[in-house]
Amino acid sequence: MTHRIGILTGGGDAPGLNAVIRAVVLTAARCYGAEVVGIREGFDGLLSNAPPMVLNEASVRDLLPRGGTILGAVNRGSPFARRVERPDGTVEQVDVSQEALQRMDDLKLDALIVAGGDGTMAIASKLVQMGAKIVGVPKTIDNDISLTDVTFGFDTAIQTATEALDKLQTTAESHHRAMVLEVMGRNAGWIALKAGVAGGADAILLPEIPFDIDVVCQKIEDLRAAGRRYSLIVVAEGAHPVGGEQQYYIDGEGSASARLGGISFLVGNALQERADVDVRVTVLGHLQRGGQPTPHDRWLATRFGAAAVHLVHEHKWGQMVALRGETLMYVPMEEATRLKFVDPEGDFVRTARDLGIVFG
Ligand code: F6P
Repeated sequence: MTHRIGILTGGGDAPGLNAVIRAVVLTAARCYGAEVVGIREGFDGLLSNAPPMVLNEASVRDLLPRGGTILGAVNRGSPFARRVERPDGTVEQVDVSQEALQRMDDLKLDALIVAGGDGTMAIASKLVQMGAKIVGVPKTIDNDISLTDVTFGFDTAIQTATEALDKLQTTAESHHRAMVLEVMGRNAGWIALKAGVAGGADAILLPEIPFDIDVVCQKIEDLRAAGRRYSLIVVAEGAHPVGGEQQYYIDGEGSASARLGGISFLVGNALQERADVDVRVTVLGHLQRGGQPTPHDRWLATRFGAAAVHLVHEHKWGQMVALRGETLMYVPMEEATRLKFVDPEGDFVRTARDLGIVFG
């Protein structure tokens, strides 16, 4: 019998996390008579003495449309490499994973549901190997988790990015400008690709396809020759030129503190100089992560949350819920830690190219 289930939200937030929490609480109570407690601030919360958040039908009543996560999220740090500052000021990384397991026992958790991206799933699957009873719910606006067609938060993010392009188009047309829009997508360009096509972009630059700026200049010239005096260029934050590097506006150790961003300004400056066009750059940033989830994401998050509780009931530790087509599946968390990239030769890119969109 499962009496008490913990839930935590790891990594960066995504619209729909609160809908997952609500679905977990309602399904656990109604189908299995189980109670749910929330662990605050991701895995950090497991390692602190902060009391868990008691969750019940009343406390999740208004959660469905709310963005963010009521549990808080931390997108760095791991129980396997916790940063500890020594009295002499030196910093060390210490493996405190046993403490995380002990804390799950102390909290009398029969199971833990973790909602997170590839980093969270990697941590969770290592804890499962040590005996932890964990199941996973995939989450990221970047939609780059393997073995699931889609993650919640992605639809909301592409809606935000598409709306931005629709707005940029009107002012671009008035002023005969090239508008460069930088969107999120560290390693995978799903947001840039999906929003770019939906928003009528002329060029889309992805991490998966290193670009040649001359190809984008040529596209702008071709448009001008055909009588169109404005253009829309979507750039994923992780895009880079052929033979060039990704751009960081803050350097740091690995992905822990480094901040990707700035490639859109390099692209914009190059276009201004080489294509003799007036350019403006917009960085959409965390607008893509905030706000109310779309109905699609509320549905997906609700299905994932409910399915995760059924997984717990079946004791499928180390499994993650996933969606293939319209079917909910269970897949090994460990395998889901591989990233899912845009296929440069695949149908989506081919469709975009067929319409005349260039990828640099
Ligand atoms: O959720 C993934 C992501 O959206 C990346 O595309 C982006 O680089 C990152 O989060 C930014 O996260 P934060 O600024 O919250 O550390």
